[in-house]
Amino acid sequence: MIEIHDIAALKAWSAERHKANKTIAFVPTMGNLHSGHMSLIDHAQTLADEVVCSIFVNPTQFGENEDLDAYPKTLSDDIDKLKAHGCHVLFIPSAHDMYPQPDLTRVTVHHMSTLHCGATRPGHFNGVTTVVLKLVNALQPHFAIFGLKDFQQYTILKTMLSDLFVPTQIVGVETGRAEDGLAHSSRNGYLTALERETAPCLYATLCTARQHLEAGIKPVYEIVREAKEFLMENGLTPDYFSICRQIDLEPATEQDTELVILAAAYLGRARLIDNLHFHLNR
Ligand code: PAF
Repeated sequence: MIEIHDIAALKAWSAERHKANKTIAFVPTMGNLHSGHMSLIDHAQTLADEVVCSIFVNPTQFGENEDLDAYPKTLSDDIDKLKAHGCHVLFIPSAHDMYPQPDLTRVTVHHMSTLHCGATRPGHFNGVTTVVLKLVNALQPHFAIFGLKDFQQYTILKTMLSDLFVPTQIVGVETGRAEDGLAHSSRNGYLTALERETAPCLYATLCTARQHLEAGIKPVYEIVREAKEFLMENGLTPDYFSICRQIDLEPATEQDTELVILAAAYLGRARLIDNLHFHLNR
């Protein structure tokens, strides 16, 4: 695996690969890699000749009360994992290289970035869209790969790339889950043994809500009320539980068939997020 540390070297590497007619699949990350990230790397291998991973803890997506410095840094473990999964290039830029003029330019997908997770993390998604566009512009990959566990992030990035005519194709990879349904996430590390036993109830609640939607008997507000109640009975504190359409993450109407149920809930020190996206036969 080659390590590249600055934008100029990344651009030069990419230009050479494009000239040689090689395809590039890109997996942007903030490091602290777990099995979910590795499934993105494995998927990238099936799409392109070259797999590039970036590790950059992006300051612009952290809020004022979110501790950027406390973000776990596990670079040597990350490198071992990437090598074991056959990643070809690791890009590790400095903050100065990524943001030579830190406060000047931001890329915003309006409105969608303020919904759901955006409501409790103001500015977060503007940081994500900004850094991803910068990385994609520097690397010019054929594919950019993201986990569908962060469905809102995926939808915002898809909208941004499409609106700005960026030729990179966005690819979403299904969420990896433990046998009991809990989505793989670095945040699961904050759960105590007891909380870990309770945590799968978030996914169970999403599945029940989907069944109710498919049965078509209960009104949506009732399904949402019951879901939140069930989470609270199990010791989780719901942040949001929203039945939306996939295209713009607005509340689903009676006509919508491509749906996503988005949920976030606090459990002890962890804020868990999960979703279910599906086609509803009406
Ligand atoms: O999902 C993440 O890890 C980050 O939001 C991303 C896409 C790497 C941008 O910093």
